[in-house]
Amino acid sequence: MARKGLFVTFEGIDGCGKTTQLGLSEKYLKKKGCRVTVLREPGSTPASEKIRKILLDKRLAINPISELNLYIAARAELVREIIRPALRRSEVVLCDRFYDSTVAYQGYGRGIDIRQIKRLNLLAVGDTRPDLTFLVDIDYKTSLLRRKKGEDRLESESRAFFNRVRKGFLEIARKEKRRIHVLDGRNSVEEIFEEVKRWLHRRLRVQ
Ligand code: TMP
Repeated sequence: MARKGLFVTFEGIDGCGKTTQLGLSEKYLKKKGCRVTVLREPGSTPASEKIRKILLDKRLAINPISELNLYIAARAELVREIIRPALRRSEVVLCDRFYDSTVAYQGYGRGIDIRQIKRLNLLAVGDTRPDLTFLVDIDYKTSLLRRKKGEDRLESESRAFFNRVRKGFLEIARKEKRRIHVLDGRNSVEEIFEEVKRWLHRRLRVQ
């Protein structure tokens, strides 16, 4: 059983398999008796879902600074409306993407100053930061093969963009080894989940 709230995030480039790992984690933890809240970013509150629609709309041209601020706005909502209350109720919060995505996509991908992004991220989240993060790492080619048809605004970006984003995620992980666990996305879903389970187990002491 979970003794206190735990905030876990899943990161990686589009098509890496993080959402599958999140779903498996949810099932596993619920079976073990944990109370679990599952969220996605951007989204998961009425306002943030509306922001998501704007962000992913392929017909819209959005400049990088507006894009950054929309992700930050969606995050500020989610943290206050759902994440903090859930953690206060001692739940396990599983979130599909969080602030590392903004550093990787808007910072490394779009080239916006990373210090400024970190400042905005902190404004949005305050003390509510992930306890544990899984980064599922795959290369661009694999990511393309795995993506569903019907690309959204971000998914239609170039190979060079995704290579920068991937490199960004790996650099973030190198700097925060205690929080972020890099998983090799070329391994099978089951193999990756064994590793995820090991870390969840360590942090939650589920039997
Ligand atoms: P998803 O496809 O994993 O739901 O994420 C939506 C898209 O938004 C994905 O292409 C990554 C992108 N994204 C950013 O560019 N910055 C962010 O801060 C977040 C959370 C997502």
